[in-house]
Amino acid sequence: MAENLLISSSEKKSDRYESLLPQVEALVGGEPDLVANLSNIAAALKQTFNFFWVGFYLVRGNELVLGPFQGPIACTRIGFGKGVCGASWKERKTIVVPNVDEFPGHIACSSDSKSEIVLPAFKNDHVYLILDVDSDKLSDFDDTDAVYLGRVMKIIERFI
Ligand code: SME
Repeated sequence: MAENLLISSSEKKSDRYESLLPQVEALVGGEPDLVANLSNIAAALKQTFNFFWVGFYLVRGNELVLGPFQGPIACTRIGFGKGVCGASWKERKTIVVPNVDEFPGHIACSSDSKSEIVLPAFKNDHVYLILDVDSDKLSDFDDTDAVYLGRVMKIIERFI
């Protein structure tokens, strides 16, 4: 396994994602363990983009439970349909929130979080886990993040 990520120094977000994605594939390629792989993916995203918080919530019965993450401590359980994460689970889709204060029912694990993107990963047509990425800047996520993080979710769907 490579010791370091080699990330494009380009200012363009898509260039950085393009250099990151094959390395994410390589990181998880030979490893079947869920916790190991989610941990390294959270670390790789944090290291590449210095997001405020990046991590996973796993579906456990009727709740999401906190999984591997990078960043400040966070809420451990989120109900179906609750907050942005629960809404992404319920609606089975990616949700981009430019301003968390304007999202009804947003769950503030940290008052420093200003914008957010949440994506689901599926197993047997059910949401199995969600990826949550938070920024301390307003409107920090756009279609580029939705597309490339969507590709990360497709990589995850191969080992869940
Ligand atoms: N803001 C999320 C909760 C999780 S934390 O941001 C890490 C939400 O509304 O679901």
